[in-house]
Amino acid sequence: MTTISRHDIPTLTGAPLLGHFAAFRARRLALFETLSHAGDVVWFWVGPYRILFLNDPSLIREALSQHGSRLERMGRTNTYLRPFLGEGLLTSSGETHRSERRAIGPHLSPVSIGRLGASIVSLTEQRVRGWEHGATIDLAQELTTLTLEVIGAALFGTTLSAAWGTLCAAFTHLEEYVTGGVNALLPLPPEWPLPANQRMRRVAAEFDRALTELLSAARQLPPDSGALAPILQQQLPPQLLRDELATLLFAGHETTASALTWTLALLDQHPAIAHELRLEVDQVLRRRAVTVADLPSLPFLDRVLKESIRLYPPVYVIVGGNGFSQGIIGAL
Ligand code: HEM
Repeated sequence: MTTISRHDIPTLTGAPLLGHFAAFRARRLALFETLSHAGDVVWFWVGPYRILFLNDPSLIREALSQHGSRLERMGRTNTYLRPFLGEGLLTSSGETHRSERRAIGPHLSPVSIGRLGASIVSLTEQRVRGWEHGATIDLAQELTTLTLEVIGAALFGTTLSAAWGTLCAAFTHLEEYVTGGVNALLPLPPEWPLPANQRMRRVAAEFDRALTELLSAARQLPPDSGALAPILQQQLPPQLLRDELATLLFAGHETTASALTWTLALLDQHPAIAHELRLEVDQVLRRRAVTVADLPSLPFLDRVLKESIRLYPPVYVIVGGNGFSQGIIGAL
């Protein structure tokens, strides 16, 4: 286990009082680029918040795996996520979080997700078929819709079209709402009767209705359908079930959409890598559809994806990570 003295950690010089607020808000990628050259562990400030930037893979692994149980889910992002995600795996802490892990974790193993390979491929093929050659598309939007369909199929074992439009709209709104809250210098409490909060409550109510609809549809499906079926059989309290479904749908599509978008953007910027990847894929698949069993034969693809999420991690800020920081530097 690594312990670094906090006196040995440099602080990136920023503006008085505001620190790096302006860059965090308007030039976040550039700020992280600067931080990445400032050392393996660096402090920076965003208004009143002091943030520990970890830039070393082994320290990041240690923080997430060894100090994960010390995670306190608090802070700004959580405040803004809670109206949508409730107390699911991503927003709960302590014993509540541990018991949710025991109930949900075993049903999200790579093996259970791997069984869904064929439906993931078919959903991808359907979406890509809609892209016209030479046309301009909003790739991030297309991939967000695709990954939402994929996580839906993974959870329910089938594509459920009912309520899907409401879900997509609610997630877009959730993202804007959380980003707005995180970017504000002085965020106003979600309870205040402001127009943005009132709109959030209306969208959250529609989101709730869509989740209820999906849960009742899921109960009619065969017991061996998707990853949700064994979770449904555990008789979890209805509110918790709703929160976990919202969390899995959210956590399971934003991340993968971001990873895929950055990967394709990077491949576009690095044609030689794209060429090598195409050679590997053509050689292994010979124009047939990919299966989960092919993945070990595609090591270059694996490296491309890992490099892409190393350069542009879909989850780059852990809120309420004081426990991680204490684990790494002993004390704050
Ligand atoms: C490239 C893809 C992904 C990346 C980079 C990623 C990254 C992460 C990270 C860093 C965390 C820890 C965040 C925190 O504790 O605040 C996390 C948590 C979580 N992720 Fe993912 N994730 C990905 C895909 C997925 C998918 C596909 C699912 C859905 C099945 C998922 C479900 C979750 C859940 C439920 C949690 C909370 C786990 C817990 O605290 O017990 N993630 N993810």
